[in-house]
Amino acid sequence: MSKILVTGGTGYIGSHTVVELQNAGYTPIVIDNLVNSNVGVLDQVEKITGVRPAFHQFDLCDEEKVHQFVADHPDVRGIIHFAAYKAVGESVQQPLKYYHNNFFSLVNLLNAYAGKPVNFVFSSSCTVYGQPDELPVTEAAPVKKAESPYGNTKQVSEEILSETAAAFSNYNIISLRYFNPVGAHESALIGELPLGVPQNLVPFITQSAVGKRGPITVFGNNYNTPDGSAIRDYIHVVDLAKAHVAAIRLLEKGNPNGNYDVFNVGTGQGNSVLEVINAFEDSTGVKLNYQIGPRRAGDVEQVWGDVSKSTNELGWKAELDISEMMRSAWKWEQYLKEHPLR
Ligand code: UD1
Repeated sequence: MSKILVTGGTGYIGSHTVVELQNAGYTPIVIDNLVNSNVGVLDQVEKITGVRPAFHQFDLCDEEKVHQFVADHPDVRGIIHFAAYKAVGESVQQPLKYYHNNFFSLVNLLNAYAGKPVNFVFSSSCTVYGQPDELPVTEAAPVKKAESPYGNTKQVSEEILSETAAAFSNYNIISLRYFNPVGAHESALIGELPLGVPQNLVPFITQSAVGKRGPITVFGNNYNTPDGSAIRDYIHVVDLAKAHVAAIRLLEKGNPNGNYDVFNVGTGQGNSVLEVINAFEDSTGVKLNYQIGPRRAGDVEQVWGDVSKSTNELGWKAELDISEMMRSAWKWEQYLKEHPLR
């Protein structure tokens, strides 16, 4: 069966994608330096699918190791590149750490595979749109100046990929622009494992609900939205994982749009922070404590995706709703309470 290299495959989105690749009959091979993940995730994947993915622990910034991996695995035809730093606030404090890691790892991979026929899927983000002029935002919307070094790494990585595709016809590349991935696998054996205080909304909600954190602060209630809180397009991580399988399949089949393409990966619907809090309470029966605080620097007011291109051309559509996202996130938090992985 077709071997797919999954960098960052022990991470949150990576581990769910490894499971969906296995379910679809692929053989994922994981590379991860475990800097923001736990090797125990491989046991968890094995519990779900019955198959332990092959694993190589090293840093993709190490060019020699990347070349050695490629030489040792001549049969890899697909790459899904998740491995990257992703904390917005930290990237503002430590921009060079972000530029070094996110660019060197990408360029090393692309160099190592230059001349070899490969299908390449990249983890991008709706952050490239900034605050879009029109909603829902389509893939044709202009890329806005990044709000953070993290966001800039996504924008420039997309440019690196489109230029590489133009120069090397061996490459077939898709960038997936994720909206806000949340939730966990229905087994509750894998999910998000934030390091320290969660910066993202849903892990903060579940940790607050389980008593690990104090009340949630809603960052701003004076936005120009129906309830005043900011709106995002939350997408279940299992749906997102399946979008990667769809992208690999499209690349295998041959993408009629050419050898570089981008797709939005969201549900096409927006939910406000207060709606997410309500959805959590309604779907789990657990009451949350929250307070209203000031806006967070760098946040956009509202963004949700137009997903017609993904639906029509990628042949993929989100299936799980916000209640399922909240229920699964909560089940995972409760599992972690009994079986801490960090
Ligand atoms: C953020 C990044 C995005 C990145 C993603 C990956 C920004 C501007 N965007 O998405 O580029 O790809 O993380 O990690 O940082 N909120 C609260 N209280 C909280 C936490 C969040 O009210 O304690 C609000 C936020 O203000 C926002 C919404 O919840 O309106 C979602 O926040 P979050 O989960 O951090 O995601 P984004 O900021 O959308």
